[in-house]
Amino acid sequence: MMTAGNQSTIEFKNLLVTGGCGFIGSNFIRWLMNNHDFSGRIINVDSLTYAGNPENLADIAADFKSQYIFQKTDICDVAALEAIFSRFAIDAVCHFAAESHVDRSIKTPGDFIQTNIVGTFNLLETAKARGDQFKLFHHVSTDEVYGSLGAEGLFREDTPYRPNSPYSASKAASDHLVRAYYKTFGLPATISNCSNNYGPYQFPEKLIPLVILNALEGKPLPVYGDGKNVRDWLYVEDHCEAIWTIMNAGRRGETYNVGGKAEMENIVIVQMICDILDDIQPARDGKARRQLITFVKDRPGHDRRYAIDFSKINRALNWSPRESFTSGLRKTVQWYLNQKKWVENIKTGAYQQWIEEQYGS
Ligand code: NAD
Ligand code: DAU
Repeated sequence: MMTAGNQSTIEFKNLLVTGGCGFIGSNFIRWLMNNHDFSGRIINVDSLTYAGNPENLADIAADFKSQYIFQKTDICDVAALEAIFSRFAIDAVCHFAAESHVDRSIKTPGDFIQTNIVGTFNLLETAKARGDQFKLFHHVSTDEVYGSLGAEGLFREDTPYRPNSPYSASKAASDHLVRAYYKTFGLPATISNCSNNYGPYQFPEKLIPLVILNALEGKPLPVYGDGKNVRDWLYVEDHCEAIWTIMNAGRRGETYNVGGKAEMENIVIVQMICDILDDIQPARDGKARRQLITFVKDRPGHDRRYAIDFSKINRALNWSPRESFTSGLRKTVQWYLNQKKWVENIKTGAYQQWIEEQYGS
Protein backbone atom coordinates (compact mmCIF):
# COMPACT_ATOMS: atom_id res chain seq x y z
CA MET A 1 0.00 0.00 0.00
CA MET A 2 0.95 3.65 -0.33
CA THR A 3 0.79 6.43 2.24
CA ALA A 4 -0.20 10.06 1.67
CA GLY A 5 3.28 10.77 0.37
CA ASN A 6 3.14 7.72 -1.94
CA GLN A 7 5.88 6.00 0.02
CA SER A 8 5.43 2.25 0.23
CA THR A 9 4.92 0.94 3.74
CA ILE A 10 7.22 -0.95 6.05
CA GLU A 11 5.95 -4.32 7.14
CA PHE A 12 5.03 -4.18 10.81
CA LYS A 13 4.05 -7.75 11.74
CA ASN A 14 2.91 -7.23 15.32
CA LEU A 15 1.98 -3.65 16.02
CA LEU A 16 1.25 -2.80 19.64
CA VAL A 17 -1.20 0.09 19.86
CA THR A 18 -1.58 1.55 23.34
CA GLY A 19 -4.79 3.36 24.31
CA GLY A 20 -6.65 1.84 21.37
CA CYS A 21 -10.01 2.01 23.16
CA GLY A 22 -9.85 5.79 23.49
CA PHE A 23 -10.85 8.46 20.99
CA ILE A 24 -7.89 8.73 18.61
CA GLY A 25 -6.58 5.19 19.19
CA SER A 26 -9.89 3.58 18.21
CA ASN A 27 -10.18 5.78 15.13
CA PHE A 28 -6.60 4.86 14.19
CA ILE A 29 -7.21 1.12 14.47
CA ARG A 30 -10.45 1.33 12.46
CA TRP A 31 -8.84 3.55 9.82
CA LEU A 32 -5.90 1.18 9.44
CA MET A 33 -7.93 -2.02 9.33
CA ASN A 34 -10.69 -0.79 7.03
CA ASN A 35 -8.86 1.40 4.58
CA HIS A 36 -5.45 -0.09 4.24
CA ASP A 37 -3.73 -3.15 3.10
CA PHE A 38 -2.34 -3.88 6.55
CA SER A 39 -1.61 -7.57 6.87
CA GLY A 40 -0.02 -7.62 10.33
CA ARG A 41 -1.64 -8.02 13.72
CA ILE A 42 -2.71 -5.21 16.03
CA ILE A 43 -2.34 -5.83 19.74
CA ASN A 44 -4.37 -3.17 21.52
CA VAL A 45 -3.16 -2.57 25.09
CA ASP A 46 -5.57 -0.46 27.10
CA SER A 47 -6.29 -0.39 30.83
CA LEU A 48 -9.86 0.89 30.22
CA THR A 49 -9.91 4.01 32.33
CA TYR A 50 -13.09 6.12 32.21
CA ALA A 51 -11.92 7.23 28.72
CA GLY A 52 -11.49 3.71 27.32
CA ASN A 53 -14.45 1.89 25.86
CA PRO A 54 -14.07 -1.45 24.00
CA GLU A 55 -17.45 -0.76 22.35
CA ASN A 56 -15.57 1.82 20.25
CA LEU A 57 -14.03 -1.14 18.41
CA ALA A 58 -16.82 -3.72 18.54
CA ASP A 59 -17.02 -3.82 14.71
CA ILE A 60 -13.26 -4.32 14.36
CA ALA A 61 -13.19 -7.08 17.00
CA ALA A 62 -15.94 -8.90 15.06
CA ASP A 63 -14.57 -8.35 11.54
CA PHE A 64 -10.85 -8.96 12.13
CA LYS A 65 -10.82 -11.85 14.61
CA SER A 66 -7.37 -13.16 13.67
CA GLN A 67 -5.74 -9.77 13.19
CA TYR A 68 -7.06 -7.77 16.14
CA ILE A 69 -6.19 -8.73 19.71
CA PHE A 70 -7.26 -6.80 22.80
CA GLN A 71 -5.32 -6.94 26.07
CA LYS A 72 -6.71 -5.12 29.09
CA THR A 73 -3.39 -4.03 30.56
CA ASP A 74 -1.98 -1.01 32.32
CA ILE A 75 1.20 0.43 30.78
CA CYS A 76 2.39 1.06 34.33
CA ASP A 77 2.55 -2.74 34.85
CA VAL A 78 6.04 -3.63 33.59
CA ALA A 79 5.74 -7.38 34.06
CA ALA A 80 2.51 -7.48 32.06
CA LEU A 81 4.09 -5.42 29.28
CA GLU A 82 7.12 -7.70 29.09
CA ALA A 83 4.85 -10.73 28.81
CA ILE A 84 2.85 -9.13 25.99
CA PHE A 85 5.94 -8.01 24.06
CA SER A 86 7.40 -11.47 24.14
CA ARG A 87 4.16 -13.45 23.65
CA PHE A 88 3.16 -11.43 20.57
CA ALA A 89 6.71 -10.73 19.28
CA ILE A 90 6.00 -7.01 19.16
CA ASP A 91 8.06 -5.25 16.48
CA ALA A 92 6.47 -1.78 16.57
CA VAL A 93 4.56 0.47 18.95
CA CYS A 94 2.12 3.28 18.26
CA HIS A 95 1.69 4.91 21.66
CA PHE A 96 -1.60 6.74 22.31
CA ALA A 97 -2.32 5.72 25.91
CA ALA A 98 -2.43 8.75 28.17
CA GLU A 99 -4.45 10.75 30.59
CA SER A 100 -5.53 13.35 28.06
CA HIS A 101 -7.81 15.95 29.64
CA VAL A 102 -6.27 19.24 30.80
CA ASP A 103 -9.01 20.01 33.37
CA ARG A 104 -8.52 16.62 35.04
CA SER A 105 -4.75 17.20 35.17
CA ILE A 106 -5.43 20.28 37.28
CA LYS A 107 -7.54 18.24 39.74
CA THR A 108 -5.62 14.93 39.79
CA PRO A 109 -2.12 15.44 38.36
CA GLY A 110 -0.73 12.23 39.90
CA ASP A 111 -2.48 9.99 37.34
CA PHE A 112 -0.88 12.03 34.55
CA ILE A 113 2.62 11.56 35.97
CA GLN A 114 2.08 7.81 36.30
CA THR A 115 0.57 7.02 32.91
CA ASN A 116 2.10 9.69 30.72
CA ILE A 117 5.64 9.64 32.11
CA VAL A 118 6.18 6.35 33.96
CA GLY A 119 4.00 4.40 31.51
CA THR A 120 5.92 5.77 28.53
CA PHE A 121 9.22 4.95 30.24
CA ASN A 122 8.04 1.34 30.81
CA LEU A 123 7.12 0.97 27.15
CA LEU A 124 10.47 2.37 26.00
CA GLU A 125 12.38 -0.02 28.27
CA THR A 126 10.33 -2.98 27.12
CA ALA A 127 10.76 -2.02 23.47
CA LYS A 128 14.51 -1.57 23.93
CA ALA A 129 14.77 -5.07 25.36
CA ARG A 130 13.51 -6.47 22.00
CA GLY A 131 16.85 -5.45 20.44
CA ASP A 132 17.19 -5.68 16.67
CA GLN A 133 13.76 -7.22 16.27
CA PHE A 134 12.20 -3.89 17.17
CA LYS A 135 11.44 -1.60 14.20
CA LEU A 136 9.69 1.53 15.50
CA PHE A 137 8.32 3.34 18.53
CA HIS A 138 5.91 6.05 17.41
CA HIS A 139 4.93 8.47 20.17
CA VAL A 140 1.66 10.39 19.73
CA SER A 141 2.04 13.76 21.39
CA THR A 142 0.51 17.20 21.50
CA ASP A 143 1.14 20.79 20.46
CA GLU A 144 0.44 21.81 24.08
CA VAL A 145 4.10 21.05 24.94
CA TYR A 146 5.02 24.34 23.20
CA GLY A 147 2.89 26.44 25.57
CA SER A 148 0.83 29.37 24.37
CA LEU A 149 1.09 31.69 21.35
CA GLY A 150 0.22 35.37 21.18
CA ALA A 151 -1.85 36.76 18.32
CA GLU A 152 0.86 35.97 15.76
CA GLY A 153 3.12 33.02 14.94
CA LEU A 154 2.91 29.25 14.63
CA PHE A 155 4.40 26.31 16.54
CA ARG A 156 7.32 24.81 14.62
CA GLU A 157 9.29 21.67 15.46
CA ASP A 158 12.09 23.88 16.86
CA THR A 159 9.78 26.00 19.05
CA PRO A 160 11.08 25.72 22.65
CA TYR A 161 9.03 23.58 25.03
CA ARG A 162 7.04 25.65 27.59
CA PRO A 163 4.23 23.41 28.90
CA ASN A 164 1.75 25.18 31.17
CA SER A 165 -0.51 22.45 32.59
CA PRO A 166 0.33 19.22 34.44
CA TYR A 167 -1.02 17.41 31.33
CA SER A 168 1.25 19.20 28.87
CA ALA A 169 4.22 18.99 31.26
CA SER A 170 3.75 15.23 31.50
CA LYS A 171 3.53 14.92 27.70
CA ALA A 172 6.66 17.08 27.34
CA ALA A 173 8.51 14.75 29.72
CA SER A 174 7.42 11.72 27.69
CA ASP A 175 8.56 13.39 24.44
CA HIS A 176 11.99 13.99 25.98
CA LEU A 177 12.23 10.37 27.10
CA VAL A 178 11.41 9.08 23.60
CA ARG A 179 14.00 11.39 22.06
CA ALA A 180 16.59 10.34 24.67
CA TYR A 181 16.01 6.63 23.92
CA TYR A 182 16.65 7.32 20.25
CA LYS A 183 19.83 9.34 20.94
CA THR A 184 21.29 7.22 23.72
CA PHE A 185 20.18 3.70 22.84
CA GLY A 186 19.44 4.00 19.13
CA LEU A 187 15.82 2.92 19.68
CA PRO A 188 14.10 3.62 16.34
CA ALA A 189 11.55 6.29 17.23
CA THR A 190 9.41 9.06 15.79
CA ILE A 191 7.22 11.68 17.48
CA SER A 192 4.18 13.61 16.27
CA ASN A 193 2.95 16.77 18.01
CA CYS A 194 -0.63 17.37 16.96
CA SER A 195 -3.25 20.03 17.50
CA ASN A 196 -6.83 19.52 18.78
CA ASN A 197 -8.63 16.56 17.25
CA TYR A 198 -12.38 16.18 16.80
CA GLY A 199 -14.64 13.52 15.29
CA PRO A 200 -16.46 10.29 16.21
CA TYR A 201 -15.94 8.55 19.58
CA GLN A 202 -14.52 11.56 21.44
CA PHE A 203 -15.35 11.38 25.14
CA PRO A 204 -17.90 14.07 26.05
CA GLU A 205 -15.65 15.91 28.49
CA LYS A 206 -13.87 17.67 25.61
CA LEU A 207 -15.31 20.89 24.18
CA ILE A 208 -16.96 19.70 20.95
CA PRO A 209 -18.81 16.55 22.15
CA LEU A 210 -19.66 18.20 25.47
CA VAL A 211 -21.34 21.10 23.70
CA ILE A 212 -23.18 18.81 21.25
CA LEU A 213 -24.64 16.63 24.00
CA ASN A 214 -25.46 19.51 26.38
CA ALA A 215 -27.16 21.43 23.57
CA LEU A 216 -29.29 18.40 22.72
CA GLU A 217 -30.47 18.24 26.33
CA GLY A 218 -31.07 21.98 26.60
CA LYS A 219 -28.31 22.28 29.24
CA PRO A 220 -25.96 25.29 29.63
CA LEU A 221 -23.00 25.38 27.24
CA PRO A 222 -20.00 26.35 29.42
CA VAL A 223 -17.48 28.65 27.72
CA TYR A 224 -14.33 29.36 29.72
CA GLY A 225 -13.24 32.98 30.20
CA ASP A 226 -14.05 35.28 27.29
CA GLY A 227 -14.33 32.40 24.80
CA LYS A 228 -11.63 33.88 22.60
CA ASN A 229 -8.99 31.20 23.19
CA VAL A 230 -7.94 29.72 19.88
CA ARG A 231 -7.29 26.08 18.98
CA ASP A 232 -6.23 24.63 15.62
CA TRP A 233 -8.71 21.82 14.84
CA LEU A 234 -7.94 18.63 12.93
CA TYR A 235 -10.41 15.92 11.91
CA VAL A 236 -9.31 12.72 13.62
CA GLU A 237 -8.92 10.65 10.42
CA ASP A 238 -6.48 13.23 9.09
CA HIS A 239 -4.45 12.70 12.24
CA CYS A 240 -4.56 8.92 11.72
CA GLU A 241 -3.23 9.34 8.20
CA ALA A 242 -0.44 11.63 9.42
CA ILE A 243 0.62 9.09 12.06
CA TRP A 244 0.67 6.18 9.62
CA THR A 245 2.60 8.27 7.10
CA ILE A 246 5.23 9.16 9.70
CA MET A 247 5.47 5.55 10.90
CA ASN A 248 6.18 4.37 7.40
CA ALA A 249 8.18 7.16 5.86
CA GLY A 250 9.25 9.55 8.63
CA ARG A 251 12.93 9.83 9.47
CA ARG A 252 13.85 8.01 12.64
CA GLY A 253 14.70 10.36 15.52
CA GLU A 254 12.54 13.14 14.05
CA THR A 255 9.54 15.07 15.29
CA TYR A 256 6.68 16.16 13.01
CA ASN A 257 4.08 18.80 13.81
CA VAL A 258 0.56 17.95 12.63
CA GLY A 259 -2.26 20.50 12.41
CA GLY A 260 -5.50 21.34 10.69
CA LYS A 261 -4.93 24.90 9.43
CA ALA A 262 -8.27 25.57 11.10
CA GLU A 263 -7.78 28.13 13.83
CA MET A 264 -11.03 28.85 15.63
CA GLU A 265 -12.06 30.78 18.71
CA ASN A 266 -13.95 28.57 21.17
CA ILE A 267 -17.01 30.80 21.14
CA VAL A 268 -17.26 30.55 17.35
CA ILE A 269 -17.19 26.75 17.52
CA VAL A 270 -19.90 26.69 20.16
CA GLN A 271 -22.06 28.99 18.04
CA MET A 272 -21.46 26.82 14.95
CA ILE A 273 -22.57 23.69 16.83
CA CYS A 274 -25.72 25.49 18.02
CA ASP A 275 -26.56 26.53 14.46
CA ILE A 276 -25.92 23.07 12.97
CA LEU A 277 -28.17 21.46 15.59
CA ASP A 278 -30.90 24.07 15.09
CA ASP A 279 -30.75 23.22 11.40
CA ILE A 280 -30.69 19.40 11.64
CA GLN A 281 -32.79 18.92 14.77
CA PRO A 282 -34.51 22.09 15.99
CA ALA A 283 -35.18 22.29 19.75
CA ARG A 284 -38.70 21.22 20.80
CA ASP A 285 -39.40 24.67 22.28
CA GLY A 286 -38.22 26.26 19.01
CA LYS A 287 -35.60 28.35 20.83
CA ALA A 288 -32.19 29.00 19.30
CA ARG A 289 -29.51 26.92 21.07
CA ARG A 290 -27.19 29.95 21.22
CA GLN A 291 -29.30 31.04 24.21
CA LEU A 292 -27.73 28.19 26.18
CA ILE A 293 -24.21 29.66 25.93
CA THR A 294 -22.92 30.45 29.44
CA PHE A 295 -19.60 32.14 30.15
CA VAL A 296 -17.97 30.48 33.17
CA LYS A 297 -14.80 30.87 35.26
CA ASP A 298 -11.65 30.46 33.20
CA ARG A 299 -9.44 27.35 33.30
CA PRO A 300 -6.33 28.06 35.45
CA GLY A 301 -3.26 28.58 33.24
CA HIS A 302 -5.51 28.52 30.15
CA ASP A 303 -3.32 28.68 27.02
CA ARG A 304 -4.52 31.49 24.78
CA ARG A 305 -3.73 30.28 21.31
CA TYR A 306 -2.38 27.18 19.54
CA ALA A 307 -1.57 27.09 15.83
CA ILE A 308 0.60 24.63 13.96
CA ASP A 309 3.10 25.06 11.17
CA PHE A 310 2.87 21.66 9.46
CA SER A 311 5.15 22.53 6.54
CA LYS A 312 7.75 19.90 7.56
CA ILE A 313 5.41 16.90 7.23
CA ASN A 314 3.87 18.50 4.15
CA ARG A 315 7.19 18.99 2.38
CA ALA A 316 8.94 15.82 3.53
CA LEU A 317 6.03 13.34 3.49
CA ASN A 318 3.42 15.07 1.34
CA TRP A 319 0.78 15.04 4.10
CA SER A 320 -1.87 17.71 4.47
CA PRO A 321 -5.32 17.65 6.07
CA ARG A 322 -8.18 16.56 3.78
CA GLU A 323 -11.27 17.53 5.82
CA SER A 324 -12.48 21.14 6.12
CA PHE A 325 -13.61 22.29 9.57
CA THR A 326 -17.10 23.18 8.35
CA SER A 327 -17.82 19.78 6.83
CA GLY A 328 -15.93 17.87 9.53
CA LEU A 329 -17.91 19.56 12.30
CA ARG A 330 -21.23 18.84 10.58
CA LYS A 331 -20.22 15.18 10.11
CA THR A 332 -19.27 15.00 13.79
CA VAL A 333 -22.55 16.50 15.01
CA GLN A 334 -24.44 14.03 12.79
CA TRP A 335 -22.38 11.13 14.20
CA TYR A 336 -23.39 11.99 17.78
CA LEU A 337 -27.02 12.31 16.69
CA ASN A 338 -26.87 8.85 15.09
CA GLN A 339 -25.12 7.12 18.02
CA LYS A 340 -27.94 7.19 20.57
CA LYS A 341 -26.93 3.91 22.22
CA TRP A 342 -23.24 4.84 22.50
CA VAL A 343 -24.15 8.21 23.99
CA GLU A 344 -26.60 6.62 26.43
CA ASN A 345 -24.02 4.05 27.57
CA ILE A 346 -21.54 6.82 28.31
CA LYS A 347 -24.05 9.06 30.04
CA THR A 348 -25.45 6.35 32.29
CA GLY A 349 -22.06 4.73 32.93
CA ALA A 350 -23.42 1.44 31.48
CA TYR A 351 -20.19 1.02 29.48
CA GLN A 352 -18.22 0.82 32.74
CA GLN A 353 -20.60 -1.73 34.21
CA TRP A 354 -20.18 -3.84 31.08
CA ILE A 355 -16.38 -3.57 31.32
CA GLU A 356 -16.49 -4.73 34.93
CA GLU A 357 -18.64 -7.72 33.99
CA GLN A 358 -16.33 -8.67 31.09
CA TYR A 359 -12.91 -7.95 32.57
CA GLY A 360 -13.35 -7.40 36.30
CA SER A 361 -12.51 -4.11 37.96
P1 NAD B 1 -8.44 9.45 25.33
O1 NAD B 1 -8.43 10.00 26.72
O2 NAD B 1 -9.69 9.47 24.55
O3 NAD B 1 -7.94 7.94 25.36
C1 NAD B 1 -6.85 7.51 26.14
C2 NAD B 1 -6.86 5.99 26.18
O4 NAD B 1 -5.71 5.56 26.94
C3 NAD B 1 -8.10 5.40 26.86
O5 NAD B 1 -8.59 4.32 26.10
C4 NAD B 1 -7.58 4.93 28.22
O6 NAD B 1 -8.28 3.82 28.75
C5 NAD B 1 -6.14 4.56 27.86
N1 NAD B 1 -5.24 4.62 29.04
C6 NAD B 1 -5.15 5.62 29.95
N2 NAD B 1 -4.25 5.29 30.90
C7 NAD B 1 -3.76 4.07 30.57
C8 NAD B 1 -2.80 3.20 31.15
N3 NAD B 1 -2.15 3.52 32.30
N4 NAD B 1 -2.53 2.02 30.54
C9 NAD B 1 -3.18 1.67 29.40
N5 NAD B 1 -4.11 2.44 28.81
C10 NAD B 1 -4.40 3.63 29.39
O7 NAD B 1 -7.26 10.22 24.59
P2 NAD B 1 -7.18 10.72 23.07
O8 NAD B 1 -7.84 12.03 22.95
O9 NAD B 1 -7.56 9.60 22.18
O10 NAD B 1 -5.60 10.95 22.95
C11 NAD B 1 -4.73 9.88 22.58
C12 NAD B 1 -3.30 10.41 22.55
O11 NAD B 1 -3.20 11.49 21.63
C13 NAD B 1 -2.82 10.97 23.89
O12 NAD B 1 -1.48 10.57 24.07
C14 NAD B 1 -2.93 12.47 23.74
O13 NAD B 1 -1.95 13.12 24.52
C15 NAD B 1 -2.64 12.64 22.27
N6 NAD B 1 -3.25 13.82 21.60
C16 NAD B 1 -4.59 14.05 21.74
C17 NAD B 1 -5.17 15.11 21.06
C18 NAD B 1 -6.65 15.40 21.15
O14 NAD B 1 -7.10 16.44 20.66
N7 NAD B 1 -7.47 14.53 21.72
C19 NAD B 1 -4.36 15.95 20.27
C20 NAD B 1 -2.99 15.68 20.18
C21 NAD B 1 -2.45 14.60 20.85
O1 DAU C 1 -3.99 20.72 21.50
C1 DAU C 1 -4.08 19.35 21.65
C2 DAU C 1 -4.83 19.01 22.93
O2 DAU C 1 -6.21 19.28 22.68
C3 DAU C 1 -4.66 17.55 23.36
O3 DAU C 1 -3.31 17.33 23.67
C4 DAU C 1 -5.53 17.24 24.58
O4 DAU C 1 -5.44 15.86 24.90
C5 DAU C 1 -6.98 17.56 24.22
O5 DAU C 1 -7.80 17.37 25.35
C6 DAU C 1 -7.09 19.02 23.75
O6 DAU C 1 -6.84 19.94 24.85
P1 DAU C 1 -7.74 21.25 25.06
O7 DAU C 1 -7.64 21.64 26.47
O8 DAU C 1 -7.44 22.26 24.02
O9 DAU C 1 -9.21 20.60 24.71
P2 DAU C 1 -10.63 20.83 25.40
O10 DAU C 1 -11.63 20.21 24.49
O11 DAU C 1 -10.64 20.45 26.82
O12 DAU C 1 -10.81 22.42 25.32
C7 DAU C 1 -10.79 23.12 24.08
C8 DAU C 1 -10.93 24.59 24.38
O13 DAU C 1 -12.25 24.83 24.87
C9 DAU C 1 -10.00 25.09 25.46
O14 DAU C 1 -9.59 26.42 25.16
C10 DAU C 1 -10.85 25.09 26.72
C11 DAU C 1 -12.23 25.38 26.19
N1 DAU C 1 -13.36 24.76 26.93
C12 DAU C 1 -13.32 23.44 27.20
C13 DAU C 1 -14.35 22.81 27.87
C14 DAU C 1 -14.28 21.33 28.21
C15 DAU C 1 -14.48 25.52 27.27
O15 DAU C 1 -14.52 26.74 27.00
N2 DAU C 1 -15.50 24.90 27.92
C16 DAU C 1 -15.49 23.58 28.25
O16 DAU C 1 -16.46 23.09 28.89
